[in-house]
Amino acid sequence: MRRFGTVLVTGGCGFIGSNFVRSAVSDSSFCDKVVNLDALTYAGNPKNQEGLKERHPGRYLFRKADIRDFEAVKEIFELFRPDAVVHFAAESHVDRSIVGPGAFVETNVLGTYNLLQAARNAWGDRKDVVFHHVSTDEVFGSLGDGEHFTEESRYDPRSPYSASKAASDHLVRAWNHTFELPVTITNCSNNYGPYQFPEKLVPLMILNMMEGKPLPVYGDGRNVRDWLYVDDHVEAIKLVMTSGRMGETYAVGGGAALENIVLLDALCRAVAAETGISPDEYRSLITYVQDRPGHDRRYAIDPTKIRSELGWEPRVGVEEGLRRTAGWYLGNPEWVESIRTGAYREWLDRQYGNR
Ligand code: NAD
Ligand code: TYD
Repeated sequence: MRRFGTVLVTGGCGFIGSNFVRSAVSDSSFCDKVVNLDALTYAGNPKNQEGLKERHPGRYLFRKADIRDFEAVKEIFELFRPDAVVHFAAESHVDRSIVGPGAFVETNVLGTYNLLQAARNAWGDRKDVVFHHVSTDEVFGSLGDGEHFTEESRYDPRSPYSASKAASDHLVRAWNHTFELPVTITNCSNNYGPYQFPEKLVPLMILNMMEGKPLPVYGDGRNVRDWLYVDDHVEAIKLVMTSGRMGETYAVGGGAALENIVLLDALCRAVAAETGISPDEYRSLITYVQDRPGHDRRYAIDPTKIRSELGWEPRVGVEEGLRRTAGWYLGNPEWVESIRTGAYREWLDRQYGNR
């Protein structure tokens, strides 16, 4: 089992990255220190890491930097000499990629290239290092009924987001094959949990329920996503980094492939259980709206490889995970308010002169 000195996390102020950083800094069997590189885009919220530096002295550092800027990335490698990279930083929302695909190509493709080159320059032919690339099942396209994605699935990305992630996967694989950079990749299904930006389905719906606003369901609501609680994804990534085989891809999924409308019904019940309001009141807010262009019909993962090779299992079922998630959003009104009003931007401006 590998253990790391300094781990460079990109995108550690986003949803999954911030959950990963919290886990890594409190796990001395995983690493000594985490350096979080994040550009603090609209999706990066420094509040997601509040108090971490104080609670874990000497184990957490933040650097504001943009992975599109090679010199900035190179400088961070020179300054902190990381032994591992966990690459979360990305533009991550499909709807935004339809409206403005340029940022997705720049950050997800060019940014990944910059990181790979910086890692290669810094590491030479070291073999005790790992570049872990965090990717998505969406690179494999859309499934028919009863089918599942595996590591052998053909790449068939269909949105600007998934095309940019597929391109980044190919770069990471090529740097492994051609330059022998030690890499691992995870292709994971839809995550949900605390700290997710409320543009994604689960937190968007929770916040709308809290405000009595319509719950916008795209198309017929029968598109299927395979839902995984974020802590289970974090554990899978750590496991692959410490025990996975170099150059390998691992498909990660919760085994909870549900139609959106079924997931939403469970979410109405989860929020109702927290608030004491009848689930029917939340259900009455469901509103069918125009479908997303190119909307992939079905994603589902067969996680046999990571289960049999590394013993990974999801620990949190959907009912339990949705309860925890609803409880977190309802229990953190300040975080929700700061996102809603953009108040954390003021804090950002004071801290980093980010205007
Ligand atoms: P997110 O949008 O919540 O966070 C992205 C983070 O990256 C933010 O903190 C943002 O500030 C940072 N960032 C964006 N552009 C940057 C740049 N140019 N330079 C430096 N930092 C930049 O994303 P997420 O949902 O946490 O997803 C993290 C990763 O996991 C992504 O690579 C995504 O493709 C992948 N993934 C996400 C899911 C999911 O369900 N959310 C599932 C599978 C894989
Ligand atoms: P999303 O959270 O955007 O993740 P992804 O598109 O990466 O899977 O959406 C999850 C599913 O929910 C997807 O099928 C689109 C659908 N959806 C809605 O029906 N309404 C919404 O407001 C959103 C944001 C998504």
